[in-house]
Amino acid sequence: MKALVLAGGKGTRLRPLTYTMAKQLIPVANRPIIHYVMDQISKVGIKDVGVIIAPETGHQIKEALAENPWEVNFSFILQEEPMGLAHAVMVAREFLEEEPFLMYLGDNLIGQTIKGFVDEFYSSRPDALILLKEVEDPRMFGVVEINSDGSVKRLIEKPKEPPSNLALVGIYLFSPLIHEAIAEIKPSFRGELEITDAIQKLLDKGGTVRSFILKHWWLDTGKKDDLLEANRVVLDEWITRSLEGEVDKNSKVVGRVSLAKGARIERSTIRGPVVIGEGTVIKDSLIGPYTSIGKNCLIEGVTLEHSVILDGARLVNIERLEDSVIGRKAVVASSGRNAKALRLMVGDDAEVLL
Ligand code: DAU
Repeated sequence: MKALVLAGGKGTRLRPLTYTMAKQLIPVANRPIIHYVMDQISKVGIKDVGVIIAPETGHQIKEALAENPWEVNFSFILQEEPMGLAHAVMVAREFLEEEPFLMYLGDNLIGQTIKGFVDEFYSSRPDALILLKEVEDPRMFGVVEINSDGSVKRLIEKPKEPPSNLALVGIYLFSPLIHEAIAEIKPSFRGELEITDAIQKLLDKGGTVRSFILKHWWLDTGKKDDLLEANRVVLDEWITRSLEGEVDKNSKVVGRVSLAKGARIERSTIRGPVVIGEGTVIKDSLIGPYTSIGKNCLIEGVTLEHSVILDGARLVNIERLEDSVIGRKAVVASSGRNAKALRLMVGDDAEVLL
């Protein structure tokens, strides 16, 4: 079986970060989301992986996958315009050949292995196996209506009035019959060829569509709060204590903290789960739980909690910062001269809550 990872698209919901960075590369616990996707794919033994890339961010995706610890064969497939998930499958048609495949959206993170899902596909051989999860607000997703015997009745993309609270997770298994269904669908109200419509078409044509319910968490890192939540959950479940950097004798490091080589802590308290990247310096600060700090950052005189700080950012003299995402090389500092006056240079689409 082959895999198709979708790492194209525009990522408008995570602006301004996605002006300069592909959405699938945004770090969760200091690792790009697409690395978690690749962990999953390689764990089920798939070796041939097609990666859909966009013209604007394709080079970044290639770079992020260049080290390839998974030892898979990557084929990068350019999708000129983000014309939808089913369109991405059309673009990858030659790569996919006449084989079943696993399709994985490059920004989806789940809290369990996909092995049971893949095993189910091999044992029951449907034309599509979809992964579902109960969600509070299904209007932002593809939604599935299930018959009383558990079979799939109907699928709708982002319905205003959802018929159920079962959302389509962005991980699918398909037989080659999906290509015939895709050839017959039309663009949706948002102008995209939807994979949800293609699966519905497959059902209409008499194909077998089965579903698999996801028991553990699923995080679609669509917006700032989703990203913070993904970061919290991943830190909570996967971070172990490992102190490779330096901690001076006036500092306290409590709990599960991962401190990379070359990072330094001076006169500070760090309460895990926290991850701190290479070359970062933390002075006179209190870093609270659920925080990821990238490489080469400077944090000085700051109380920080439940936040994601990207590479090269500088935070200086901030009394309290929480629930925040700070972009690469951004500077947030207080001069201390006149704390009441704010002096800002805020990028496009940024959000500042004071
Ligand atoms: O995350 C699950 C949801 O993903 C499903 O419930 C929906 O049914 C499905 O349509 C999809 O909805 P989104 O609106 O969240 O999809 P988004 O446009 O964010 O694209 C998902 C991923 O696919 C993202 O990593 C970008 C990539 N992509 C997207 C498009 C539209 C491509 O590579 N090419 C594309 O043309």
